[in-house]
Amino acid sequence: MKQNEVRDINLAPLGRQKIEWVRNNMPLLNGLEEQFKKEKPFDGVKISLSVHLEAKTAYLCEVLAAGGAEMSVTGSNVLSTQDEIAAALAVTGMKVYAYHGATAEEYNRHIEMALEHGPNIVIDDGSDLINMLHNKRTDLLKDVWGGCEETTTGVIRLKAMEKDGALKVPMVAVNDAKCKHMFDNRYGTGQSVWDSIMRNTNLIIAGKEVVVGGYGWCSKGIAMRAKALGARVIVTEVDAVSAVEAVMDGFEVMTMEKAAPRGDIFVSATGCNQVITVKYMLNMKDRAILANAGHFNVEIDMEELERKAVAKKETRPNIMGYWLENGKCVNVIAEGRLVNIAAADGHPAEIMDMSFAVQCLSAMYILENRGKLENKVIDVSNEIDNLVAERKLAAWGIQIDKLTSQQEKYLSSWNL
Ligand code: NAI
Repeated sequence: MKQNEVRDINLAPLGRQKIEWVRNNMPLLNGLEEQFKKEKPFDGVKISLSVHLEAKTAYLCEVLAAGGAEMSVTGSNVLSTQDEIAAALAVTGMKVYAYHGATAEEYNRHIEMALEHGPNIVIDDGSDLINMLHNKRTDLLKDVWGGCEETTTGVIRLKAMEKDGALKVPMVAVNDAKCKHMFDNRYGTGQSVWDSIMRNTNLIIAGKEVVVGGYGWCSKGIAMRAKALGARVIVTEVDAVSAVEAVMDGFEVMTMEKAAPRGDIFVSATGCNQVITVKYMLNMKDRAILANAGHFNVEIDMEELERKAVAKKETRPNIMGYWLENGKCVNVIAEGRLVNIAAADGHPAEIMDMSFAVQCLSAMYILENRGKLENKVIDVSNEIDNLVAERKLAAWGIQIDKLTSQQEKYLSSWNL
């Protein structure tokens, strides 16, 4: 079995520089690294990880390795792996199988190579690794104590597996922890999506009409930050309650059909497919910009666009212009893959510090409860959420009030 499969091992110094940068901005992981170095909780434990392979993820791998884990690492999207980061991990001797721009076949091969490790714990982002484990590598299931899932779409897939009785390992829904989705999905995606759109287009957001597909945790953040940048924001939704929330937050809400001719920039983050189809694109302004922040590249119907476009040409690095039958062009960033990670550096380090602290503590939970957990999707405990929040506040030097015994008594009594 190969020790690694990366694009160019000589890129390691650049990758190391980026990892050191995030290390200096992730105090929660710094604390866990120190704790793990002393206690070695994962001594001899094999972990296979499939998460967008950029600097913060590399640091997570190093923190787990500091705790004694034997890591085998791959990415979770064909465009989100940063080759310098993969190289920097590989030179440490860690097993790394990933490169930017892998074909679908190479991507799947890399996941299988990461699984060959024979993991006790799996850490997944989008459930592709879990899928391979349950469909192709069932021989490895016997050694797996459990796993952690990073994102909304992955949790949805796991719940569907659980419902069908197909899930064969306990999986912690890291995404559903408060200290994950309330901050990562909202503020992380909110900032990094606009960072990516701005750096890739070099256009101004102020004064533009921005159409956001969805008003969930990610799309709320995207809409909020677009407004702060001076855009006029339109939201599309399928859920009535979320639509009401968007209206009360001050956004225009309408169907995609109505929004299509209005928008200058479209961003979807729904976890659903066919949110932006060619039918809508034909009614858009010439040279409208399309981006997706949802996990899979199905929100903008790229398959249909590739089929129906009469011509296509790269209009800027990371942007493909597609010309439609009516002569108009739409500009799609990063092949319709999650724009903030496939064409930028992903979430800010301080955000991933919280998400990955939840990952580390959830991996510890699986370790400590191995053999006792049901093959279900498991919630992250309140203890873990509170611990992460308390450490985050401590890192900022912020103190909060504590309930007095009289207040605790008052809050727990009914006969006031
Ligand atoms: P969520 O469940 O909080 O929100 C999704 C929203 O989209 C819901 O309000 C739903 O009603 C709406 N929706 C569903 N289908 C729709 C349609 N056809 N048209 C309009 N609205 C529709 O989910 P969350 O956490 O916001 O995640 C969304 C996606 O983003 C998932 O695929 C998730 O895995 C991914 N994600 C991406 C991140 C990134 O860095 N780019 C970070 C975290 C999650």
